[in-house]
Amino acid sequence: MSRPQSESQGGSQRARSRVSLWLRSERAFGLSATAVRISRATAQPTPAISQQTMVAPDPAPAAVSRAATPTIGNSTLPEKTRISVENVPPAPIDIVMPEFTDLPFTSPDLSRAEKIAQLSVMDATEVKPCVKCRLCQTRTQTVFGEGDPDTKIFFIGEGPGENEDRLGRPFVGRAGDLLNRMIAGMGLQREQVFIANIVKCRPPENRVPAPDEVAACTPYLVRQLEIIRPAVIVTLGLPSAKYMLNSRLTMGKLRGNWHAWRGIRLMPTFHPAYLLRAYTEENRAAVWSDLKKVLQEVGLPIPARAAR
Ligand code: URA
Ligand code: SF4
Repeated sequence: MSRPQSESQGGSQRARSRVSLWLRSERAFGLSATAVRISRATAQPTPAISQQTMVAPDPAPAAVSRAATPTIGNSTLPEKTRISVENVPPAPIDIVMPEFTDLPFTSPDLSRAEKIAQLSVMDATEVKPCVKCRLCQTRTQTVFGEGDPDTKIFFIGEGPGENEDRLGRPFVGRAGDLLNRMIAGMGLQREQVFIANIVKCRPPENRVPAPDEVAACTPYLVRQLEIIRPAVIVTLGLPSAKYMLNSRLTMGKLRGNWHAWRGIRLMPTFHPAYLLRAYTEENRAAVWSDLKKVLQEVGLPIPARAAR
């Protein structure tokens, strides 16, 4: 893996050196490899985005509910799904992907119960037993994603880390705490949004997912998006922004501006793990500015900026 880029938009030298120190020791957000896209199915015009008010989730139907939670995701005890797959080649440095198509959805608007049912079936029958890429060999369990299937706001991170791999839920470590605070700062609860990653299994040593892993796994994410049909997608960090936008631009160029993914407005912002390492007033203000745009876009009130 070549040297990753920083997400910083030109902050202070001190911030930069902290970032580069961290980048050397931990997960990089500068995905050096080619952005990966898969070809998408032929599509028809997008129906107008639903303007329903975001509500606290209703209890899920008995057939698909997961005990105490009305949301989708792994809330049960971790289930060991380590699978041994032979002859899986090592992660390539780069691969060429087919031409990417940014056509709007063909998928229908689903009821809440239908969304929950489809997501639960996908998780149980396809994602949990998935052996489509080498990450199945080292995971403890898959991390499908969780949240309100009727949400207007869908956050996309990079991939499960150690805590997520252990618990089977996205963003449950330190970065997750900060994401929860970001969501709370928006006047929302975590259960009112949906949170997923571009890969459902933890990359070893928290490395950036390899392009072929992203290519193998993102059909699940695409289907999650097709089922949920959020009004806005927020990508967290550079790998998910690069994947969703088929872009080679830096985070500095991407964040703060509206983009679109198959007719859905998309706002790239910094990854909370990056923010933790570069917790500057400048970076926090940048994220808050991005999140305010998201609130405006979905017609939710903008709370006074909470003290942090
Ligand atoms: N970082 C991510 O990108 N995703 C998670 O789920 C946790 C940390
Ligand atoms: Fe399957 Fe995705 Fe896990 Fe690879 S990362 S094994 S494609 S679920």
